[in-house]
Amino acid sequence: MRKPFLAANWKMNKTVKEGLEFLEAFLPAIKGIEGRDVVIAPPFTALHALSNALERESCSVALAAQNMHHEEKGAYTGEISPVMLNELGARWVILGHSERRHIFGEQDDVISKKVTSAIRHGIGPILCIGETLEQREAGNTFSVLRNQVDSGLADVSPDDIVKVVLAYEPVWAIGTGKTASPEQAQEAHAFVRGLLASKYGSAVAEQIRILYGGSVKPSNASELLAKPDVDGALVGGAALEPDSFAGIVTCQIA
Ligand code: 13P
Repeated sequence: MRKPFLAANWKMNKTVKEGLEFLEAFLPAIKGIEGRDVVIAPPFTALHALSNALERESCSVALAAQNMHHEEKGAYTGEISPVMLNELGARWVILGHSERRHIFGEQDDVISKKVTSAIRHGIGPILCIGETLEQREAGNTFSVLRNQVDSGLADVSPDDIVKVVLAYEPVWAIGTGKTASPEQAQEAHAFVRGLLASKYGSAVAEQIRILYGGSVKPSNASELLAKPDVDGALVGGAALEPDSFAGIVTCQIA
Protein backbone atom coordinates (compact mmCIF):
# COMPACT_ATOMS: atom_id res chain seq x y z
CA MET A 1 0.00 0.00 0.00
CA ARG A 2 1.27 3.45 -0.88
CA LYS A 3 0.92 5.99 1.91
CA PRO A 4 -1.03 9.05 0.69
CA PHE A 5 1.23 12.08 0.28
CA LEU A 6 -0.31 15.54 0.58
CA ALA A 7 1.99 18.42 -0.16
CA ALA A 8 1.59 22.20 -0.16
CA ASN A 9 3.62 24.19 -2.66
CA TRP A 10 3.45 27.76 -1.44
CA LYS A 11 5.46 29.04 -4.44
CA MET A 12 6.55 32.67 -3.90
CA ASN A 13 4.04 33.29 -1.13
CA LYS A 14 4.29 33.90 2.63
CA THR A 15 6.83 35.68 4.74
CA VAL A 16 8.28 33.94 7.79
CA LYS A 17 5.61 35.55 9.95
CA GLU A 18 2.83 34.44 7.63
CA GLY A 19 4.24 30.92 7.47
CA LEU A 20 4.30 30.64 11.26
CA GLU A 21 0.75 31.98 11.49
CA PHE A 22 -0.33 29.34 8.98
CA LEU A 23 1.15 26.56 11.14
CA GLU A 24 -0.61 27.87 14.23
CA ALA A 25 -3.97 27.37 12.58
CA PHE A 26 -3.10 24.35 10.43
CA LEU A 27 -1.54 22.00 12.99
CA PRO A 28 -4.60 21.89 15.29
CA ALA A 29 -6.83 21.41 12.23
CA ILE A 30 -5.04 18.18 11.21
CA LYS A 31 -4.47 16.84 14.72
CA GLY A 32 -4.93 13.09 14.97
CA ILE A 33 -4.59 12.44 11.26
CA GLU A 34 -2.45 9.34 10.73
CA GLY A 35 -1.18 7.24 7.89
CA ARG A 36 -0.53 10.18 5.56
CA ASP A 37 2.62 12.07 4.67
CA VAL A 38 1.98 15.79 5.05
CA VAL A 39 4.55 18.11 3.53
CA ILE A 40 4.84 21.89 3.21
CA ALA A 41 7.14 23.59 0.71
CA PRO A 42 7.55 27.21 1.81
CA PRO A 43 9.95 29.66 0.16
CA PHE A 44 13.61 29.07 1.14
CA THR A 45 13.47 32.07 3.49
CA ALA A 46 10.88 30.44 5.75
CA LEU A 47 12.37 26.92 5.94
CA HIS A 48 14.46 27.48 9.05
CA ALA A 49 11.77 29.13 11.15
CA LEU A 50 9.15 26.58 10.13
CA SER A 51 11.53 23.71 10.80
CA ASN A 52 12.14 25.03 14.33
CA ALA A 53 8.42 25.51 14.91
CA LEU A 54 7.61 21.96 13.75
CA GLU A 55 10.33 20.54 15.95
CA ARG A 56 8.94 22.40 18.98
CA GLU A 57 5.52 20.87 18.29
CA SER A 58 7.09 17.39 17.77
CA CYS A 59 5.06 17.38 14.65
CA SER A 60 5.28 14.85 11.82
CA VAL A 61 4.65 17.46 9.09
CA ALA A 62 7.77 17.53 6.92
CA LEU A 63 9.26 20.38 4.92
CA ALA A 64 10.24 20.56 1.28
CA ALA A 65 12.22 23.12 -0.67
CA GLN A 66 10.84 24.29 -4.01
CA ASN A 67 14.11 23.98 -5.94
CA MET A 68 17.78 23.24 -5.43
CA HIS A 69 21.12 23.47 -7.22
CA HIS A 70 22.80 20.11 -7.80
CA GLU A 71 26.28 21.16 -6.60
CA GLU A 72 27.20 21.28 -2.91
CA LYS A 73 28.79 24.73 -3.11
CA GLY A 74 30.52 27.09 -5.49
CA ALA A 75 30.18 30.17 -7.66
CA TYR A 76 26.44 29.93 -8.42
CA THR A 77 25.05 33.29 -7.40
CA GLY A 78 21.52 33.09 -6.05
CA GLU A 79 21.42 29.29 -5.77
CA ILE A 80 20.84 27.02 -2.76
CA SER A 81 22.62 23.69 -2.33
CA PRO A 82 21.45 20.34 -0.95
CA VAL A 83 23.87 20.71 1.97
CA MET A 84 22.18 23.98 2.90
CA LEU A 85 18.74 22.40 2.62
CA ASN A 86 19.77 19.55 4.88
CA GLU A 87 20.85 22.03 7.50
CA LEU A 88 17.49 23.79 7.29
CA GLY A 89 15.54 20.60 7.85
CA ALA A 90 14.13 20.06 4.35
CA ARG A 91 13.39 16.35 3.88
CA TRP A 92 12.03 16.80 0.35
CA VAL A 93 12.64 19.02 -2.65
CA ILE A 94 10.30 19.82 -5.53
CA LEU A 95 12.24 19.52 -8.79
CA GLY A 96 11.32 20.35 -12.36
CA HIS A 97 8.14 22.20 -11.45
CA SER A 98 6.48 23.53 -14.60
CA GLU A 99 7.09 27.10 -13.44
CA ARG A 100 10.81 26.31 -13.21
CA ARG A 101 10.70 24.68 -16.65
CA HIS A 102 8.60 27.29 -18.43
CA ILE A 103 9.39 30.59 -16.68
CA PHE A 104 13.03 29.94 -15.77
CA GLY A 105 13.96 27.67 -18.66
CA GLU A 106 15.08 24.63 -16.67
CA GLN A 107 15.95 21.78 -18.99
CA ASP A 108 15.63 18.04 -18.47
CA ASP A 109 19.39 17.45 -18.20
CA VAL A 110 19.72 19.88 -15.28
CA ILE A 111 16.63 18.49 -13.59
CA SER A 112 18.13 15.01 -13.87
CA LYS A 113 21.31 16.19 -12.11
CA LYS A 114 19.23 17.72 -9.35
CA VAL A 115 17.29 14.48 -8.83
CA THR A 116 20.42 12.39 -8.34
CA SER A 117 22.06 15.06 -6.19
CA ALA A 118 19.03 15.22 -3.89
CA ILE A 119 19.07 11.44 -3.47
CA ARG A 120 22.82 11.49 -2.76
CA HIS A 121 22.21 14.02 0.03
CA GLY A 122 19.29 12.15 1.59
CA ILE A 123 16.64 14.57 0.35
CA GLY A 124 13.61 13.03 -1.36
CA PRO A 125 13.02 14.44 -4.84
CA ILE A 126 9.46 15.28 -5.86
CA LEU A 127 9.91 15.22 -9.62
CA CYS A 128 7.24 17.19 -11.48
CA ILE A 129 6.16 16.28 -14.98
CA GLY A 130 3.24 17.36 -17.15
CA GLU A 131 2.16 18.47 -20.58
CA THR A 132 1.02 21.90 -21.78
CA LEU A 133 -2.42 22.41 -23.31
CA GLU A 134 -0.87 22.66 -26.74
CA GLN A 135 0.92 19.33 -26.27
CA ARG A 136 -2.28 17.66 -25.02
CA GLU A 137 -4.33 19.00 -27.92
CA ALA A 138 -1.70 17.79 -30.38
CA GLY A 139 -2.02 14.29 -28.90
CA ASN A 140 1.48 14.37 -27.43
CA THR A 141 0.70 13.95 -23.72
CA PHE A 142 2.18 10.48 -23.42
CA SER A 143 5.33 11.23 -25.40
CA VAL A 144 5.96 14.36 -23.29
CA LEU A 145 5.51 12.36 -20.08
CA ARG A 146 7.75 9.59 -21.40
CA ASN A 147 10.53 12.07 -22.22
CA GLN A 148 10.28 13.82 -18.87
CA VAL A 149 10.31 10.54 -16.92
CA ASP A 150 13.13 9.06 -18.98
CA SER A 151 15.36 12.10 -18.69
CA GLY A 152 14.45 13.08 -15.11
CA LEU A 153 15.19 9.57 -13.85
CA ALA A 154 18.01 8.80 -16.30
CA ASP A 155 20.62 8.25 -13.57
CA VAL A 156 18.42 6.92 -10.80
CA SER A 157 19.31 3.36 -9.84
CA PRO A 158 16.77 0.65 -9.00
CA ASP A 159 17.83 0.93 -5.34
CA ASP A 160 17.11 4.64 -5.24
CA ILE A 161 13.94 4.95 -7.27
CA VAL A 162 11.72 4.21 -4.26
CA LYS A 163 13.01 7.43 -2.66
CA VAL A 164 11.50 9.45 -5.50
CA VAL A 165 7.97 10.83 -5.56
CA LEU A 166 6.55 11.86 -8.93
CA ALA A 167 4.02 14.62 -9.42
CA TYR A 168 1.88 14.74 -12.55
CA GLU A 169 0.92 18.36 -13.00
CA PRO A 170 -0.72 19.11 -16.34
CA VAL A 171 0.39 22.67 -17.05
CA TRP A 172 -3.10 23.64 -18.26
CA ALA A 173 -4.53 22.78 -14.82
CA ILE A 174 -2.05 24.75 -12.71
CA GLY A 175 -3.54 27.86 -11.16
CA THR A 176 -6.31 27.90 -13.76
CA GLY A 177 -9.14 26.46 -11.70
CA LYS A 178 -9.36 23.82 -14.44
CA THR A 179 -8.72 20.44 -12.80
CA ALA A 180 -7.97 17.32 -14.78
CA SER A 181 -10.93 14.99 -14.41
CA PRO A 182 -10.25 12.00 -12.16
CA GLU A 183 -10.30 9.88 -15.33
CA GLN A 184 -7.73 12.08 -17.08
CA ALA A 185 -5.51 12.00 -13.99
CA GLN A 186 -5.84 8.22 -13.67
CA GLU A 187 -5.00 7.70 -17.34
CA ALA A 188 -1.79 9.75 -17.04
CA HIS A 189 -0.81 8.20 -13.70
CA ALA A 190 -1.33 4.66 -14.96
CA PHE A 191 0.79 5.49 -18.00
CA VAL A 192 3.59 6.86 -15.78
CA ARG A 193 3.42 3.80 -13.54
CA GLY A 194 3.73 1.66 -16.65
CA LEU A 195 6.87 3.57 -17.63
CA LEU A 196 8.29 2.97 -14.14
CA ALA A 197 7.41 -0.71 -14.40
CA SER A 198 9.26 -1.07 -17.69
CA LYS A 199 12.32 0.68 -16.24
CA TYR A 200 12.38 -0.84 -12.75
CA GLY A 201 9.95 -3.77 -12.75
CA SER A 202 6.33 -3.76 -11.67
CA ALA A 203 6.95 -4.65 -8.00
CA VAL A 204 9.05 -1.50 -7.63
CA ALA A 205 6.67 0.63 -9.70
CA GLU A 206 3.85 -0.36 -7.36
CA GLN A 207 5.71 1.23 -4.45
CA ILE A 208 6.28 4.63 -6.06
CA ARG A 209 3.94 7.44 -5.22
CA ILE A 210 2.57 9.56 -8.04
CA LEU A 211 0.87 12.78 -6.94
CA TYR A 212 -1.59 14.82 -8.93
CA GLY A 213 -1.26 18.62 -9.02
CA GLY A 214 -3.37 21.28 -10.69
CA SER A 215 -6.26 23.12 -9.05
CA VAL A 216 -6.74 20.55 -6.27
CA LYS A 217 -9.26 21.83 -3.70
CA PRO A 218 -11.03 20.34 -0.67
CA SER A 219 -14.06 19.79 -2.92
CA ASN A 220 -12.29 17.67 -5.55
CA ALA A 221 -9.48 15.99 -3.55
CA SER A 222 -11.48 12.89 -2.59
CA GLU A 223 -12.55 12.00 -6.13
CA LEU A 224 -9.01 12.44 -7.46
CA LEU A 225 -7.44 10.44 -4.64
CA ALA A 226 -10.01 7.68 -5.06
CA LYS A 227 -8.36 6.74 -8.35
CA PRO A 228 -6.08 3.70 -7.97
CA ASP A 229 -2.90 5.33 -9.32
CA VAL A 230 -3.37 8.77 -7.71
CA ASP A 231 -1.37 8.57 -4.49
CA GLY A 232 -1.58 12.13 -3.27
CA ALA A 233 -1.71 15.77 -4.24
CA LEU A 234 0.65 18.67 -4.78
CA VAL A 235 -1.40 21.74 -4.00
CA GLY A 236 -0.71 25.38 -4.84
CA GLY A 237 -3.44 27.99 -4.36
CA ALA A 238 -5.67 25.90 -2.09
CA ALA A 239 -2.74 25.22 0.27
CA LEU A 240 -2.27 28.88 1.16
CA GLU A 241 -5.17 28.88 3.64
CA PRO A 242 -4.86 26.57 6.68
CA ASP A 243 -8.49 25.39 6.61
CA SER A 244 -8.42 24.68 2.94
CA PHE A 245 -5.16 22.66 3.02
CA ALA A 246 -6.37 20.89 6.17
CA GLY A 247 -9.55 19.94 4.26
CA ILE A 248 -7.38 18.31 1.59
CA VAL A 249 -5.05 16.60 4.07
CA THR A 250 -7.96 15.10 5.98
CA CYS A 251 -10.16 14.31 2.96
CA GLN A 252 -11.90 10.97 2.75
CA ILE A 253 -9.90 8.53 0.61
CA ALA A 254 -12.03 5.67 -0.71
P1 13P B 1 -2.55 25.08 -8.10
O1 13P B 1 -3.03 24.13 -7.05
O2 13P B 1 -2.62 26.53 -7.66
O3 13P B 1 -3.21 24.83 -9.42
O4 13P B 1 -0.98 24.79 -8.31
C1 13P B 1 -0.56 23.49 -8.54
C2 13P B 1 0.91 23.45 -8.44
O5 13P B 1 1.61 23.99 -9.28
C3 13P B 1 1.51 22.75 -7.30
O6 13P B 1 2.87 22.56 -7.48
